[in-house]
Amino acid sequence: MERWYGKVVVVTGASAGIGAAISAKLVENGLQVVGLARRLDKLQDLETQLQNRPGKFHPVQADITNEDDLNRAFAWVKNNLGTLHILVNNAGVAKPATLLDGNTELFKQVLETNVLALAVATREAVKIMRENAEEGHVVHINSTTGHRIPNVPLMNVYYASKYAVTALAETLRMDLRRVGSKIRVTSLSPGLVETDMVNDFLTAGVVGKLIEAAPKLHPEDIANALVYVLGTPPHVQIKELIISPTGSE
Ligand SMILES: NC(=O)c1ccc[n+]([C@@H]2O[C@H](COP(=O)([O-])OP(=O)(O)OC[C@H]3O[C@@H](n4cnc5c(N)ncnc54)[C@H](OP(=O)(O)O)[C@@H]3O)[C@@H](O)[C@H]2O)c1
Repeated sequence: MERWYGKVVVVTGASAGIGAAISAKLVENGLQVVGLARRLDKLQDLETQLQNRPGKFHPVQADITNEDDLNRAFAWVKNNLGTLHILVNNAGVAKPATLLDGNTELFKQVLETNVLALAVATREAVKIMRENAEEGHVVHINSTTGHRIPNVPLMNVYYASKYAVTALAETLRMDLRRVGSKIRVTSLSPGLVETDMVNDFLTAGVVGKLIEAAPKLHPEDIANALVYVLGTPPHVQIKELIISPTGSE
C-alpha cells in the first residue's frame, strides 16, 4: 500500500457501514480520503475519530443521486486536493418490498442510487484520473447477489441493481482499455455484512429471521479486502473478488 500514501480517494457512502470502515482503513494507510454521504453529522463524527492518523478524512455532503451534488463534490476534490487516484463506489440502498407491491418511488431510489449514480460518479472520477498520467483504480462495492440470486424475499429491484453493477464494471474495463488507459477496475462482491442496511430488514418478518440466523461478515473484512485489491502491483488487475461469510451457502 506504500505507493498509495498521500494519494486521493473518494469513497461514496462513507457515513456508515462498509464505507465508514473502508474510509478508516484508508486513512490508517495514509490516504487523503474524501467521504461522500447525505448525513454530514455522521461524516463529521468520523472525521473527528480519524484525527492525528497517517492520512486525513475530508467530509463532503452529497446526495449521489443528485448530479449537481456529485459535480460539486468532484469539483471540491479538484480544487482542494488537485487530483484523484481511486474511486470506491460504495453507497447503496436496499428497501424491503416485493416486485408485486413495491411502489415506483422505492424502485427508482434503489436503481438511481445503486446503478445510475454509480455510473455518473465513475464518469466524473475517471475524467479527473485521466488528466494526470498516474495510476488509477475504480472499485465498485457490488454483492454476491450481483452474480447469483438467493431465495430471499423483499429485495425487489436490489438484485437487478447489483447485476447491473457487474455489467458496469466489465463495460468500464473495456471502455478504458479501448482508450489505452491503465486505470484498473475491480468489482468487490461481499455476502451478508453486519451493517445498518441488514438491520433495516430485521423487522421485516420472514426475511428478518433468515438474516438474523445467517452468518455475517464485518465491515472491516471488506475494508481489508479492498486494501488487498489496491495493494497488488499495477500490472495486476483483480477483476472480481467474492467474499462470503464462512458457513454461508
Ligand atoms: N450489508 C450487506 O450485507 C451488503 C452485502 C453486499 C453488498 N453490500 C453493498 O455494500 C454497500 C454499502 O452498504 P452497507 O451495508 O454499508 O449499508 P449502510 O450501512 O446502510 O450504508 C450505506 C451508505 O450509503 C450511503 N448512501 C445511501 N444513499 C445515498 C445517497 N443517495 N447519496 C449518498 N450516500 C448515500 C449512506 O449514507 P447517508 O445515508 O448518510 O447518505 C451510507 O453511508 C452497498 O452498495 C451495498 O449494496 C452490502
